[in-house]
Formats: sequence, structure tokens, C-alpha cells
Amino acid sequence: MRATTLIVSLALVAADPPPASEHAETARWMVNTLNWGGLTTISTRGTATSVGDPFGNPYSFADVGGVPYVYASDLDASMEDAFTADGANPVVAMTLSEAALGNTVPDATTNVTDGNCVIGASEYADPENPPCARLVITGTIYKVADGSDEETAAYAALSARHPYFDQLPDDHSFYVAGVNVTDLWLIDAYGGATILDPADYFAVTTDALSVKAARMPQAAVARAVLKGLFGDDNAQPWPTDKTGTARWMAKNLDWGVLSTISTRSEGAELGQAFGNPYSFADANNGIPYFYASDLDASIIDAQTADGASPRVTFALSEASYEDGSLRACKIGQLLGDPENPPCARLVFSGDLATVEAGSDEEAAAKAALFARHPSFANYPDDHSFFVAKIELDGIWLIDFFGGAADIAPADYYAA
Ligand SMILES: *[C@@H]1O[C@H](CO)[C@@H](O)[C@H](O)[C@H]1NC(C)=O
Ligand SMILES: *[C@@H]1O[C@H](CO)[C@@H](O)[C@H](O)[C@H]1NC(C)=O
Repeated sequence: MRATTLIVSLALVAADPPPASEHAETARWMVNTLNWGGLTTISTRGTATSVGDPFGNPYSFADVGGVPYVYASDLDASMEDAFTADGANPVVAMTLSEAALGNTVPDATTNVTDGNCVIGASEYADPENPPCARLVITGTIYKVADGSDEETAAYAALSARHPYFDQLPDDHSFYVAGVNVTDLWLIDAYGGATILDPADYFAVTTDALSVKAARMPQAAVARAVLKGLFGDDNAQPWPTDKTGTARWMAKNLDWGVLSTISTRSEGAELGQAFGNPYSFADANNGIPYFYASDLDASIIDAQTADGASPRVTFALSEASYEDGSLRACKIGQLLGDPENPPCARLVFSGDLATVEAGSDEEAAAKAALFARHPSFANYPDDHSFFVAKIELDGIWLIDFFGGAADIAPADYYAA
């Protein structure tokens, strides 16, 4: 099924892009095509993050009829926050970026270079380029009843998209959880976010979806072409080297999910978790820097709204590296999956702060951001972009079996 879609997509990839009005189709296409996203909960935990923080966590998923499902365990941080902890809150945000598409396409060989998400493919291409679609689904997560038809269908979808799940040990008591969608926030074109009515999203037909799939630019293909041109010789640290792995991810990944507590009720829920795919760079110092604007939802939540809270997390997954080519992350390799522990997941917690205009730090951060994201140089002046950073006070890393590491920021900076 996926292979067929891919072949059709490649054959038609030169066709015109879909009209920007197909927002509901785009959202359904993303949920039907992408394999992982950021799941944001409100943290109940004080280790490597803080209680009350919007905690983003890279998660594999699959959908049935547009309902996103995950395969989860109560041992996982996000499920603790949603289900088992004192004060658990099941309202979650699931954040998808078309930039993650790379992970669905194995070894593509074609000459396509039109990827909206692929840095270097065109002057605007970037995970933060508006036509590189971003979807945030807000809803209530629930455990699907054991033995129900819903569980059978959802597990079949999960296992088809993630053969890794079939390999999981029984003793972690994994279960299927679904997200009961209440709000949909989508950026897939210039001009700001579209708030989708869940009824329109669920009304998208299978036919409309396959037309959409056939017309979407194949970001991963462009990325594979670029990788072929420029090569890739970045060796990763060993999983025993926690600080080294975290620094490697900050230095080599291009985007992650920035989570905030929503101050907005359109396409999100006031006071609940919200995630947003964000491009970033570190200036060889481990600090995540962003090129942000007051018009952006995350900055509104963290800085400008009434009741704004600077508490944020920024979640990175090695599944975003290159075209999802790291063996541990690559679906189809033995145990390969974005949720496979050796496919590292890193969550930075801290306060989002503006870097002082005119400072040496701003100059260094801007140079790093513009080097990693050349499209930023083409941004319009009138959106008043500025450099922001996270002042880190918690670092959570899973890069191997055996649970999360709690890394002290001082050790991380010193690595
Ligand atoms: C890719 O481009 C090369 C050089 O222009 C050409 O020879 C080749 O046929 C193209 N391949 C495809 C699949 O279009
Ligand atoms: C989803 O939410 C609706 C509205 O609150 C509710 O009626 C329905 O039972 C929920 N479904 C599940 C599976 O929780």
C-alpha cells in the first residue's frame, strides 16, 4: 500500500502542487503518511524537566480513518503524564511536520529537487518554510479497550507502519492509545495558520487522500539527492556517551518540536499542551537558538500573550536526521523505528528567552542559524524576526534501552 503510493507519487511528482485550499486533505494526508511526531503532555515529573512544563516526546504513530493511535507503555514519560501520575492530564498535542517525510522513503533515486522542507533544495526550502506543512492535533488520549474491534484495527495499522512494535517484549505491558481529536491547527501555506473543523478533517475521503498523496512533493527524494551530492561523514557518539550524544544532536539536527502551554483557543485548547515544529541551530555551544517572530503561535504562548509562560521544551529525534537514514531509526531495518530506543530522543527544558539585540551572542547565533538555514536570509523584514534561545535547566535523553538519562546542563555544556 505504502509502496504503491510512493510509486504513484514519484510518477506524478512534477505535477502542479495542490491548491492551498485543500487544508483538510493536507492534514489527513499527513496523518496517513508520516510515521512519527511530537507528543506533548504537561509534565508531572521533576527529573530532567519540571512539573507543569509542556513536555514534547517524539512518538511513532499510525491512523485509522484519521484517528491517531500510538503504541505505548505506562513506563513512558508521556503516559505517566497523561494517565498514571498524580494530577495526570490526558489532553495532549500531537505535532507533525512534513519534514519528517524522509523516514517513509527508502533509497529513492530520481532527479526531483523540489522539496519545500529540504534545506538547500530551493531558496526558501526549510522545515520552517510555511509550505513545509505543520499540523498540531489537540485531543484527549485514551486507552483503547483490550480485545475491542477498535484495538484490532488500530494495532493492525500500527504494526503495518511500524513492524518494530511486533518485536516489543510483552513485559512492558504495551497498549494501544488513541487521540480523541478536538482541535486542528495547520500551517501549509503562507499567510498564517488554518483552524480546521474536525468534522471536515474526518470527512476527507480515501479518494481525495490518494489524489493528495500523488501530488505532494517528495521531500525525502530531494534530501536523498542533496545527500548524494554533498555526502555525509558525521559519525555519531556511542550511546554510553550521553552528553556527547546530546551535543551531537544539537549540532547535527535541523528541527524539533517546540512545546508551550497554549494561550490560544483557536485550533488549540487554552492552558493545554501545544507543539510546533521549529528549525534551530546551536552556535557550537549546545544552546538551541531559534529565529522567531512575534506572529508565531509559540512566541505568543511563551512571550506576548496575557498569561504567557516562558516554560518550554524542545524535542529532537534522530529520526529527523538526513532522510531518516540512521539505521536505528529506519523503518524496515531490524528493529528500526523512530520509537526504537537507540534512535535517540532528546528533550530540552527551560525558559524561552530573547537574545539581546546587537550582542556578540546574537551575532554568533544568527551566523549559526543562517548557515544551517539559508532560507532565513530571505525572510521578510516586516515580521520582525529575532533570535531566541532556551535557557536550559533540564535535559532528558533516551538513546538506548534502559530508560531516560537525566543530564545536568553544566555537563552538557562542558562536553
Ligand atoms: C537524471 O538526470 C540525469 C542527468 O541530467 C539524466 O541522465 C537521467 O536520465 C535523469 N534520471 C531521471 C530518473 O530522470
Ligand atoms: C470522544 O469525545 C466525544 C466528545 O466528548 C465523546 O462523546 C466520545 O465518547 C469520545 N470518544 C472516545 C473514544 O473517547
